[in-house]
Amino acid sequence: MSSPKPDTLLFFVNGKKVEERNADPETMLLFYLRDKLRLTGSKSGCGGGACGACTVMVSRYQPRTRTILHFSATACLVPIVQLHGAAVTTVEGIGSTKTRLHPVQERIAKANGSQCGFCTPGMVMSMYTLLRNKPQPSLEDVREALSGNLCRCTGYRPIVDGYRTFCQEANCCQGNGVCRQGNGDCCQGNGDCSLDDGDCRRDNGDCCQSNRDGAEPNFLQEKPQLFEKEDFQPLDPTQEFIFPPELILMGDRDSVPKTLSFCGERTRLLCPGSLEELLELKAKHPEAPLLMGNTHLGPSMKFKGVLHTLMISPIRVQELFEVTHTSEGVWVGAGCSLSELLTLLQKIICESGAERSELFRALTKQLKNLGSQQVRNQASLGGHIMSAFPNSDLNPVLAAGNCKVSVASSSDRRELPLNQDFFVSFGKTLVRPEEVVLSVFIPFTSKGELVSALRHAPRKESAFSTVTCGMRVLFCEGSSVVRDISLYYGGVGPTTVKAAQTCRALINKEWSESVLSRAYDVLLEELELPPSAPGGKVQFRRVLTLTLFFKFHLELLHKLKHMGWISGEVPQRLLPLPSYIQPSVQHFQTVSDSQKSHDAVGRPIMHKAALSQATGEAVYCDDLPSPPGELHLALVTSSRAYANIKQLDVSAALQMPGVVDVITAEDIPGKKVRTDFGYDEDILAQNQVLCVGQMVCAVVADTKAHAKRGAAVVRVQYEDLPDPIFTIEEAIERASFYEPRRSLERGNVTEAFRSVDHIYEGGIRLGGQEHFYMETQSTLVVPLGEEQEFHLYVSTQWPTSTQVAVAETLSIPSNRVVCHVKRLGGAFGGKVTKTAILTSIAAVAAWKTNRAVRCVLERGDDMLITGGRHPVVAKYKVGFMNDGRIIAADLEYFANAGFSVDESLTVVEKMIVQMDNAYNIPHLRGSGAACRTNLRSNTAFRGFGVPQSCMVMENMVTDVAMALAMPADKVRELNMYRGPSLTYHKMEFNAENLHLCWDECKRRSDFEARRRAVELFNKQNQWKKRGVAIVPIRYGIAFSEGFLNQAASLVHIYSDGSVLVAHAGTEMGQGIHTKMQQVASRELHIPISKIYISETSTSSVPNTCPSAASFGTDANGMAVKDACQILYQRLRPVMQKNPEGSWESWVKAAFFDKISLSATGYYRGPDTYMDWEQMEGRPYSYFTYGVCFSEVELDCLTGDYRTLRTDIVMDIGRSINPSVDIGQIEGAFMQGLGLYTLEELKFGPSGLLYTRGPSQYKIPALCDMPLSFNVYLLPDSDNPHAIYSSKGIGEPAVFLGSAVFFAIKDAVSAARSDSGLSGPFSLDSPATAERACLAAASTFTHKVPVCEPGSFKPWALEI
Ligand SMILES: Cc1cc2nc3c(=O)[nH]c(=O)nc-3n(C[C@H](O)[C@H](O)[C@H](O)COP(=O)(O)OP(=O)(O)OC[C@H]3O[C@@H](n4cnc5c(N)ncnc54)[C@H](O)[C@@H]3O)c2cc1C
Ligand code: FES
Ligand code: FES
Repeated sequence: MSSPKPDTLLFFVNGKKVEERNADPETMLLFYLRDKLRLTGSKSGCGGGACGACTVMVSRYQPRTRTILHFSATACLVPIVQLHGAAVTTVEGIGSTKTRLHPVQERIAKANGSQCGFCTPGMVMSMYTLLRNKPQPSLEDVREALSGNLCRCTGYRPIVDGYRTFCQEANCCQGNGVCRQGNGDCCQGNGDCSLDDGDCRRDNGDCCQSNRDGAEPNFLQEKPQLFEKEDFQPLDPTQEFIFPPELILMGDRDSVPKTLSFCGERTRLLCPGSLEELLELKAKHPEAPLLMGNTHLGPSMKFKGVLHTLMISPIRVQELFEVTHTSEGVWVGAGCSLSELLTLLQKIICESGAERSELFRALTKQLKNLGSQQVRNQASLGGHIMSAFPNSDLNPVLAAGNCKVSVASSSDRRELPLNQDFFVSFGKTLVRPEEVVLSVFIPFTSKGELVSALRHAPRKESAFSTVTCGMRVLFCEGSSVVRDISLYYGGVGPTTVKAAQTCRALINKEWSESVLSRAYDVLLEELELPPSAPGGKVQFRRVLTLTLFFKFHLELLHKLKHMGWISGEVPQRLLPLPSYIQPSVQHFQTVSDSQKSHDAVGRPIMHKAALSQATGEAVYCDDLPSPPGELHLALVTSSRAYANIKQLDVSAALQMPGVVDVITAEDIPGKKVRTDFGYDEDILAQNQVLCVGQMVCAVVADTKAHAKRGAAVVRVQYEDLPDPIFTIEEAIERASFYEPRRSLERGNVTEAFRSVDHIYEGGIRLGGQEHFYMETQSTLVVPLGEEQEFHLYVSTQWPTSTQVAVAETLSIPSNRVVCHVKRLGGAFGGKVTKTAILTSIAAVAAWKTNRAVRCVLERGDDMLITGGRHPVVAKYKVGFMNDGRIIAADLEYFANAGFSVDESLTVVEKMIVQMDNAYNIPHLRGSGAACRTNLRSNTAFRGFGVPQSCMVMENMVTDVAMALAMPADKVRELNMYRGPSLTYHKMEFNAENLHLCWDECKRRSDFEARRRAVELFNKQNQWKKRGVAIVPIRYGIAFSEGFLNQAASLVHIYSDGSVLVAHAGTEMGQGIHTKMQQVASRELHIPISKIYISETSTSSVPNTCPSAASFGTDANGMAVKDACQILYQRLRPVMQKNPEGSWESWVKAAFFDKISLSATGYYRGPDTYMDWEQMEGRPYSYFTYGVCFSEVELDCLTGDYRTLRTDIVMDIGRSINPSVDIGQIEGAFMQGLGLYTLEELKFGPSGLLYTRGPSQYKIPALCDMPLSFNVYLLPDSDNPHAIYSSKGIGEPAVFLGSAVFFAIKDAVSAARSDSGLSGPFSLDSPATAERACLAAASTFTHKVPVCEPGSFKPWALEI
């Protein structure tokens, strides 16, 4: 390719000019900021625009209007070459701890909205951009702005609470025009939000007070609060950066711009300044794609390896951004972003009135649900249409609405209707390669023309649709006879499809139930989906084609009625699910008045690093500067599930630019395996691979991109081995287990079954869960070059294990290896064992090359390689009496462990030990097995088996209640442990606090009243049902392997009085460092401002145990306390000599008195054990108790649901830090909510994980947070087993997320009873929309035939 001399790219970052002479079109802004400008505040959580961690604000000058446009963007998808003339603001640019904090940084931190902090800069920048555009936003604006920002730690409540302080709140717009974009249709809170589509709060019908449904707790003003908003500094918009005047001048000068050219290593980008040049370039290079928002091109290049050697960027071509109004409609430039389109449409709606703007409103509705705000800001209308992907949200509406596009080439201009002929096939349209879409025509609607857009997605926001549609009907004037109709669907074929036959069947017919019921059959027939269709969910998608059409029908009836074109009764309106986030309650006990003011224990102190996290100053592993000569490591993973490696050919990789070496198993100088429970796991596959994604070898190169490209060309020749095992059923059939298997029994179960009134046999399948820590696995290994010393900088929960693994792998003593952990961007159990293997590989590379090696997994690789929570299949047989007493139960658990044992055996043990949860079942047997399969190896995950085993128990109890037609809470109460009790493995405990939590939760949630209200709601609503559930948890704290219950600390007092604490715990967002500061503050009698914790390091505290099992504070707190007490005792004589002295004076005096000011502390924890032979033991130190109430509203037509309210009461003893502990409860609950209702891992038939990023795998987003989310800490609870009478809290609340599952099940049950179905029914976990909708068994689900399992090859496996 002959290339003109590349131009210099010019843009501004945080007010500073950046000139880049070698701007590579493949370089994304995020990596430029982090690697080139060393602005590491913006984080990489996915690299595909779907997590929001990298959000920045982009500002552009618009010469035509002489205005500045500010918008949020995901820096991972912004090619730097698209920024010529733009200004970028990052989290570092708006405030810092050194100068002045910006209010958005201060408020998220002080409201406890930052735990691990990895998502925080992205949240800050989304909110900052909102405030730049709207200094007094509504809560709805805040919700929208943050909808694309994921957080895995907090549960979102504190973030919303922190940021709602910027809002001028009102529940309803009270007619101020906001509700319906100024069309005067506001309900004024009277419950009748809109007359046609329930669109009051912009899209969700949530304005009317009725939706709030009395759910708001009446104790909102309870004191104390976790933070005082009066302390916040005010927002002062005049303090913000001004847009660089140089760029305004440049924009004005650029009126006749020349083509710019940027050239990278593999790709060239041409950026023409006029339409003429653009068309000429397109004629010359028809194969070159047009680079607009890069939200489609970018992911395809990054994730699918598509390479475009030439791209053309038309962002400077004015014609593509023009908007022309005509009497028939509006021509919108194809370059306009989807956000600009939304704003434009909203304006036109206001100006044109309801009749003419039907299509505009349908598009508006769809646009608001499309992707996130960042995606909409970046993506262009033309790019959207031309991407022509099957589940596009706009294309079906544009097509149904008779829109057209204007296209041009250097020789021709034409208009093409957007219809079924336009969308040719997957990703293909009628537009020719040399043509460019200039604009899109969106027509006004005429009298009697009604349009609607509907979609269903796996998550309410920021998710691609499962099925989406656009529908338009033109009625003959004054009647319900159809003159014209078009129905277009997405998600039911390779591209947007028209339901042409259905339309024909409806034309000239009266819109009536009988005509429609025939139309459903035609629709089903013509939108046939084969059972193996890509994307799966075939039955559900087919149901959705019908139910969305039915919703359209309901909308039409109401509109026709409103227009007076039909008379008589019409069926009930289907309002959208509520979405208004209400104020919530956090209730905790304050410290006594007599507590000394310096003593920080028990106070709701902000996470010690929250401000640094909010300003982007907090350093994570990948933020560390590169040591000289650093190499980057990329892994080559197996594409086969079970195969011998015949040949490994790395020659091509070694030829690639920048590649330095390839590391294979042969290079490992020491132990080539990690061994657990007698089973070996290859560090790098030696001769055989046992799962897709197993690490085979690693490429090291000078840059990450080079390492990745090198890895892509390594050739591995496999010889497939027969019959890999994927599913639990296959493992059971082939007896493929890791030994030993475990069982426990109390009483005589077999005998007891003979004397019960009823026996029920059931079961449940529980899906796995991805940790989805926002910071992926990260490690940096630095060889010191002397005596085989290595420093490891790792994101690990267990520094010692990483140190030992590296020492063994390199065959060197542990004293040469120091592992440092500053902080982790989330871990949740996923960084206990897996990080050690990964660091060992990086260490081999560092040892071999004698250079520092960094390995930061991309999200897709992390998900492919590292494993998560174990999927479980459980079966049970339960015997019970007529009154609900459970007499006997036999439960069997099978966990899918994957290809290596990892921690699976102990996970299964914990499942069995804890499965009785809160229930005293006299005859109880539990057995469990870890199945050995050819899938990624599963590992520890918050709760360690308990979320699975207790779920099975609760499901069984629910089945008993359903079988007896009794309320589930009554059956639970009847069977609970009471007072002093023995678990079924004979551990003594007192269940009193469990009952206190239960009673308090019922009282706080107003349980009985809620249940009555739900019953009434369900009687009044056919297609929407509500459900309630209340579930308990009794969770054992401490490691059941006794030796792990120990910790040490090292405390130094420096002669200036400052204190440095080191302990064995790692800070991963759970606030352990903050709590340790509080402990030291109490013991040393000094304020926490004098105490600092820098890192966790194996050279300060050796032989550490993992930060896990909810035991971190218990163990390390005692160790820190010990060291501080030693030091305080040493200082006592000095203090006695000078009682009036200050801390600093005592410390100084002690130093001059030659008193050691450094001490180690140690804690020898409980000797827990479990004797499996005798079936008894004390595997825990004590129990944490909790109870959770949840209420949901379910849309039975789509399975979509909303958690209206959650109340949690937890007994966590005397909390050391209520804000940290409440944060742990909320975050764990939301993770549980994800586990039980949302998160689905999908594996293909050959064992490949499909769900390898946030676009496919949905963790809870802000939209999933309960609308009213209240947490109460049980007061006056003492615990003699842990420091200061506190209790461990990291894990227990995960299980409480199951309350949402059971509330959904309750709602489904109500729907089923409308269809005459009663008694227990099967609902597997997660209770996704698909499962809930199908289980609700509506008339629509019955219409869709079920494909016989075994008669086809499913797209995804039920593992
Ligand atoms: C995280 C994420 C979430 C998303 N969620 C949704 C969702 O919920 N619903 C949904 O419908 N979509 C969703 N999308 C897809 C998004 O809408 C499209 O990727 C986007 O609209 C494409 O526009 P673009 O400007 O970024 O195109 P680019 O990626 O820049 O280009 C895409 C293609 O269009 C061509 N093209 C661009 N402009 C023109 C033109 N003027 N003339 C001719 N060809 C042109 C290019 O050659 C290229 O082939 C999501 C995307 C992401 C990344
Ligand atoms: S890293 Fe950019 S959105 Fe996830
Ligand atoms: S604080 Fe949000 S991901 Fe950790």
